[in-house]
Amino acid sequence: MRLLQDKIRREGTVLSPSILKVDTFLNHGIDPLLMREIGREFASRFAGGGITKVLTIESSGIAPAMMTALELGVPLIFARKRKSLTLRDDVFTEKIYSYTKEEENEVTVARKLLLPGDTVLIVDDFLANGEAASGMARIAGQAGARIAGFGIVIEKSFQSGRRRLEEEGFRIEALARIRSLENGAVTFLEEPSG
Ligand code: G4P
Ligand code: NA
Ligand code: NA
Repeated sequence: MRLLQDKIRREGTVLSPSILKVDTFLNHGIDPLLMREIGREFASRFAGGGITKVLTIESSGIAPAMMTALELGVPLIFARKRKSLTLRDDVFTEKIYSYTKEEENEVTVARKLLLPGDTVLIVDDFLANGEAASGMARIAGQAGARIAGFGIVIEKSFQSGRRRLEEEGFRIEALARIRSLENGAVTFLEEPSG
């Protein structure tokens, strides 16, 4: 997606060879017009997929997922990270380990929000090692829902997330695919021709 690549080139900061900071439009500040275009792009790529719900994880997945849900005309559900104080049986729970943050989060989704008849599109801001994506897939699996695929805003293609999801047979649509962050520069996998 050209608009997104240009935005990353202009406003993204390479923090290390593995971390891209995009806090002016995605992770802290949010660009609503860009989010709208992202929502339209995912909706168009997954059109006809019979999607009934969009699923993401708080907090940075919510903005692109919300615009996607709006375009598809379906509800959005976000998995919550806040730990529940008591064991409850009205939620699906999965543990998600973050290599970036070196911490494990327990995420939950209320059982009533995801049903066996649902077809879910999973949206997230970043795909790194695929821990969050796999955790969401397991939540959808617990619900008996079908997974239409993954809509990823920024894929770090040099990390293992895509390969891992593809091995599980999932469809992945990523709007910006980063080949490398070496030498402080962003290189995309598919440079736009036009
Ligand atoms: P994984 O799920 O694909 O394995 O990724 P990882 O554990 O590395 O990601 C943990 C958190 O770090 C996620 O946010 C993810 O979006 C974010 N992240 C991963 N790589 C990058 C990067 O290069 N740049 C930025 N800006 N973020 C990255 P989170 O903990 O869920 O936080 P939130 O922002 O959604 O609240
Ligand atoms: Na994030
Ligand atoms: Na995220």
